[in-house]
Amino acid sequence: MNVAGKTVVITGSSSGIGAVAARQLAKQGARVCLVARREEELASVQREITSEGGQAWIYPADLTDEASLNQCAERILDAHQRVDVLVNNAAHSIRRPITEALDRLHDYQRTMNINYIAAVGLTLKLLPRMLEQGEGQVVNISTLSSQVPIPLFSAYLASKSALESFSRSLLAELGHKGIDVTVVYFPMVRTPMSSRTSIYRHMPMMNVDKAAGWIVKAVNKRPARVGSPVGTLGSLALAAMPGPVTRFTQPAFRQMDRMLKHKMSKDR
Ligand SMILES: NC(=O)c1ccc[n+]([C@@H]2O[C@H](COP(=O)([O-])OP(=O)(O)OC[C@H]3O[C@@H](n4cnc5c(N)ncnc54)[C@H](OP(=O)(O)O)[C@@H]3O)[C@@H](O)[C@H]2O)c1
Repeated sequence: MNVAGKTVVITGSSSGIGAVAARQLAKQGARVCLVARREEELASVQREITSEGGQAWIYPADLTDEASLNQCAERILDAHQRVDVLVNNAAHSIRRPITEALDRLHDYQRTMNINYIAAVGLTLKLLPRMLEQGEGQVVNISTLSSQVPIPLFSAYLASKSALESFSRSLLAELGHKGIDVTVVYFPMVRTPMSSRTSIYRHMPMMNVDKAAGWIVKAVNKRPARVGSPVGTLGSLALAAMPGPVTRFTQPAFRQMDRMLKHKMSKDR
């Protein structure tokens, strides 16, 4: 497979992994459509791409707003004959214990709206073009933490698990019509998203270029999953023994949190 000449729509491309993945894809000859809310940032990514000889278009949109999402999809479909790949990468993460979210149902609604509903919404809008073409690919971005259960991210992880489940249905229903579906399970990556949690300053993380390379690999090879051996082992263990695996890994996470907090306190 080759990304050259393919039209790739990538959401959340104003920052972090999405912005770098768009640049890497454009370098390999993809025509990239950049989607996010912040127009200035999108324009800056577009300038970087065109200065490197690539092709990029920007579509500022709030994907949690149905009218904005529909308008964005229509503009993309009007401007491009083909839509070869949709990368649903835009997301929001919340780190909060469930006991501190008892009066915060909106945490769950907000994460669901951007991480799941928006991704499904854009997929439904672009899918008819892919079916007309007789082929296409949807790449949905998830996290290693849905393969290995970690505490404190219930709203975020539930929304990513919903997206994974939708991905499986999409592949099961439309794989035979040329629609490939890939789920990418990132570990922690150093980006604006992970930097918002100050105790993660000392945590070893994947760098953003390598993470963006996973999206490029997904588009080039079109597998059902791109992830790490740790994630695969974690999901096997979880499927075999959900109770013990979930209970026994929690003390390790608590210990890791204590260690990171301790390292942070030494910075002060
Ligand atoms: N960083 C990590 O450690 C990590 C780990 C596992 C998985 N992931 C996943 O990797 C993906 C990229 O994350 P990142 O770390 O690169 O995050 P990031 O730098 O915070 O980027 C998030 C992107 O989503 C866009 N976005 C958020 N709300 C939006 C909305 N309502 N409408 C349109 N766009 C919206 C943001 O753009 P605007 O603000 O301009 O709208 C931004 O471009 C996400 O799916 C994330 O869940 C990240």
